[in-house]
Amino acid sequence: MKSLYGVIGYPIEHSKSPMMHNAWFRNENFEGYYHPFKIEKNQLGNAIRGMKALQMKGWNVTIPYKEAIIPFLDEVDAAAVAIGAVNTVVYKNGKWVGTNTDGDGFVASLSLKRTKEQLKTSSILLIGAGGAAKGIYYALVNAGVNNIHIANRTVERASSLISKIAADGNFKGISLDSATEQLTQYDIIINTTSVGMYPEIDSVPIEVTNIKAGTLAVDIIYNPLETAFLKAAKERGAETLNGVGMFVYQGALAFEHWTGIRPDIEKAMTMIELNQG
Ligand code: ATR
Repeated sequence: MKSLYGVIGYPIEHSKSPMMHNAWFRNENFEGYYHPFKIEKNQLGNAIRGMKALQMKGWNVTIPYKEAIIPFLDEVDAAAVAIGAVNTVVYKNGKWVGTNTDGDGFVASLSLKRTKEQLKTSSILLIGAGGAAKGIYYALVNAGVNNIHIANRTVERASSLISKIAADGNFKGISLDSATEQLTQYDIIINTTSVGMYPEIDSVPIEVTNIKAGTLAVDIIYNPLETAFLKAAKERGAETLNGVGMFVYQGALAFEHWTGIRPDIEKAMTMIELNQG
């Protein structure tokens, strides 16, 4: 009998996770099935009780339940506690355990462009200080990066993120204007905001006039595959990486938590890019 997995959220219709995980189950000959569950806000508790009663082995959690799910779990691991959000639930030793693979998934996706050693010595600019930035910042610090600036429209939010996730080294919250002026000093520039996401495809989170050639510009957005930010950076000689990598790697890490199997990354990336939109 197939074990049941899935994703809970609202809305959930456009999630690419079911397609990706079901393809992995098939490719790995693993007896699993992954279903999208659209849960109304006032039904979250009932839904989780139902999912436990159905003996699901795990599930992903997306907007708007990444924080709200925490009280329903038996344990939450260190990454999820630090980030304050859960994107993956795993049934382990009779307990429902929450973890968060978004940040580690993002860092893993950087391996498509940079080695771990290159990453550690890179000077990084994170744009944005919301939930997505928090997971990515936490994972970058854990990966040993010790030079990170966070630029945000609301600078206090960036500074507060830095002070919450304590770290030695060169970590600083700055304004978008300062970041724009000193853009040449960064080796990797990452947009974690939703600026540039469909349908606002012409907006950029930061002007890249001062970007230096060879810099890696990364966007966590994957609709469109090439945001206005990535396009402008590329025109100035930067390398680019879109959000498909992060999406696939965060899913792969969840898949590995559930099954112990590392799924095929490349095939999944091609499938997501072809089915984008
Ligand atoms: P998420 O969980 O997806 O990161 P969030 O917590 O709402 O979402 O954070 C959104 C991020 O995008 C924030 O950094 C936000 O800046 P503020 O903290 O100043 O609000 C940033 N953001 C959203 N819209 C923006 C815009 N039009 N210009 C600049 N920054 C924007």
